[in-house]
Amino acid sequence: MKNPFKFGTIVEEPYFINRKKEIEKVISLLGSDNHLVVISPRRFGKSSLIGMAVKDLDRPVIAIDLQLVTSPADLAAQILKRIYRFYPAEKLKQYLKSFRVVPTLSLNPVSGAVDVSFMPGTTYLPVLEDVLNLAERVSTEKKKIIMIFDEFQDAVKIDTSLISFMRAVMQHHTMINYVFLGSQESLIRGIFEKKKSPFYHFGLVMYLPKIDVKEFMVFLKEGFSKLCENADAVAEEILFVTKGHPYYTQQLAFTVWERAALKKGEAGIVSEAVNELIMMHDMDYERLWLNFNRTDRKMLLGLALSDLQPLSDAFDREWDIGATSTAFSSIKRLMVNGFVIKTDKYELDDPFFTKWLRGRRER
Ligand SMILES: Nc1ncnc2c1ncn2[C@@H]1O[C@H](COP(=O)(O)OP(=O)(O)O)[C@@H](O)[C@H]1O
Ligand SMILES: [Mg+2]
Repeated sequence: MKNPFKFGTIVEEPYFINRKKEIEKVISLLGSDNHLVVISPRRFGKSSLIGMAVKDLDRPVIAIDLQLVTSPADLAAQILKRIYRFYPAEKLKQYLKSFRVVPTLSLNPVSGAVDVSFMPGTTYLPVLEDVLNLAERVSTEKKKIIMIFDEFQDAVKIDTSLISFMRAVMQHHTMINYVFLGSQESLIRGIFEKKKSPFYHFGLVMYLPKIDVKEFMVFLKEGFSKLCENADAVAEEILFVTKGHPYYTQQLAFTVWERAALKKGEAGIVSEAVNELIMMHDMDYERLWLNFNRTDRKMLLGLALSDLQPLSDAFDREWDIGATSTAFSSIKRLMVNGFVIKTDKYELDDPFFTKWLRGRRER
C-alpha cells in the first residue's frame, strides 16, 4: 500500500485537498484582465494551488521560480525558453530579429527542448524588456499567456532595480495575466501594498490561509482508514499537533503512516512519530538556535512556552524583551525568515521546533 500523504514539493490530486473557493477565485481572476498576487507563509500551498488552478485552462503557462534565477539575464533566458515551448520557432524568429541583444539558442537533441542563454555580461535591461514584450506580442486573446513568478520576494535579491523595471514594462501589457506568489510576508506585502512601491495595487492580493481543519480531518481519516482501526483519533491527534499547517500536517501524517504500516503498535503512534521528526531535525534545530541573538531567543521561547502574544505587556514582563521597538523588530526579523507566522495571532511556524524548544528547556 502506498503512503497516501505527501510533503515537500507541489502536490496535485490525490494529495491535494480541494481549496475549492480559492481555485474558483483564481480561475475567475485569470479570466479577466487583472493580475494576481498570492501571499501566505511558506509551505501553505501557494504553488500547489496555482498549479491546480491553471492545470485545465488550456492556456500557455510560463512559471518561473525566482529562487532559482541567478541574474536578470538568466530570468530573461528562462522566460524565453518557456515561450519556445508554446510557439513555433519560425514565428518567434521574426520577433527575435528586432532584439537588441540576440540570444544563443541550442536545441537539446534528446528532449527537443530549446535552451536559451545570453552572453555573460549582457546588459540585462533591454534583454528582459525584449523578452517580456515578446510574450505580450505572441500571446492571443483566445489563449492569453499566464506568467507566474513564484517566490517573487526574491526578485530583490537578484537585482535591486529589477522590481521597478519589471513593473515599468509590465504595466503596458494587456495580453498577459501576471501572477506573483510570495512567501516572506512583510517583504512581499511591502512590494504590493506600500504606496511608494512600484507594484502598489498592481494586482488583486489574495491571502491564502491554512487548509480548513474539517477538510483536513476528512482527508486524514480516509488515508488512515485502510491501515488503522482508530483512524479518527489518529487524525485528530495529528491536527492537534500541527494546528492544520498544510506542510507539517502532511509530513506528520506521512511519518505516522509509515510507522503504522510497519505495525509498530497503534497506541501512542502519533507521539512516536512526532519524536522521530524532532530527533531527525535535532542538529538543524540546534544550529538554528545557536545563530539567534538573545532577543530572538527570548521571543521564540516565549512563543513556544506560553500563550502570551509577543507585543503585550505580559509577554514583556515574563520574558524581559525590553522596548516595544525591540520586540517589534525581533518579530519582524523572525517573520521575514519564516520562523514566526501570523495568522489570527503570532505563532511559531514549525510545531516540531516548538516541541524541541520545550523539550530542551525542560531537560
Ligand atoms: N491543498 C493542499 N492539500 C494538501 N496538502 C497541501 C495543499 N497545499 C499544500 N499542501 C502541503 O504543503 C506542502 C507545501 O505546498 P506548496 O504548494 O509547495 O507551498 P508554498 O508554495 O506555499 O510554499 C505540500 O508539499 C503539501 O504537503
Ligand atoms: Mg511555493
